[in-house]
Amino acid sequence: MRVVIQENYQKMCLWAAKYIAGRINAHKGSKPFVLGLPTGSSPLGVYAELIKMNKAGEVTFKNVVTFNMDEYLGLPREHEQSYWHFMWSNFFDHIDIPRENVNILNGMTDDPEAECAAYEDKIASLGGIDLFLGGIGVDGHLAFNEPFTSLTSRTGVRALTTDTIIVNSRFFDYDVSKVPTKALSVGVATVTSAKEVLILINGHNKARALAASVEGGVSQKWTCSALQMHPAAIIACDEPACGELTVDTYKYFLDVEKAERI
Ligand code: GLP
Repeated sequence: MRVVIQENYQKMCLWAAKYIAGRINAHKGSKPFVLGLPTGSSPLGVYAELIKMNKAGEVTFKNVVTFNMDEYLGLPREHEQSYWHFMWSNFFDHIDIPRENVNILNGMTDDPEAECAAYEDKIASLGGIDLFLGGIGVDGHLAFNEPFTSLTSRTGVRALTTDTIIVNSRFFDYDVSKVPTKALSVGVATVTSAKEVLILINGHNKARALAASVEGGVSQKWTCSALQMHPAAIIACDEPACGELTVDTYKYFLDVEKAERI
């Protein structure tokens, strides 16, 4: 695992955006570059940087196909808190990606099982995901894979924990009764099956989750810990998120990065 520690959120986002653009630009052949994407506040700065790079001609998304991590079940696309709405207003509407290259789970489906199976099939038909960008929840959830979701899970219906409902209520007027209780989500194994995984972890409130991802044992209690079993996982984090790492761990990753180049 590679842990890239940046001084602050802005620098973390810039680093991640450059990494993603570098991977897209290095991609050769006619097959599209397949990119997994998250919602949440963590990736917002990365999307802003990628938009700037796209407008400056430094990266194009014309040959990129995206798959989003998750979507609330029962929330229509038009709802301003749907992940569909989030992705189009914060990213896709501002870059040159062809509309048909965007894949987001349909939270209004009347057959969630079939919707999820078709999503996995489509990912497989494109040869799998080249790079999965993600964030994590305070409780370490990857996508909507809450604690105790199997680390071998694939795309399916997930129940949100009370913790996550409370945390996410900030987007629903701080009214927990307005937060959907279920979601469609890629599985932990859908994420870890990607050729590369890049997870953003920023802020004091994610310090325990970062420590569990890096220093804890692999456990379904912290689904983010599954990253330890991935051959090419990267965590990009900021200083405030490092608060629960041991000093030795923190220094180790800073030392390693001195010798690394992206
Ligand atoms: C939601 C999403 C996750 C996301 C998490 C963290 O629960 N389902 O995919 O990683 O929130 O969000 P934020 O980046 O806002 O802390």
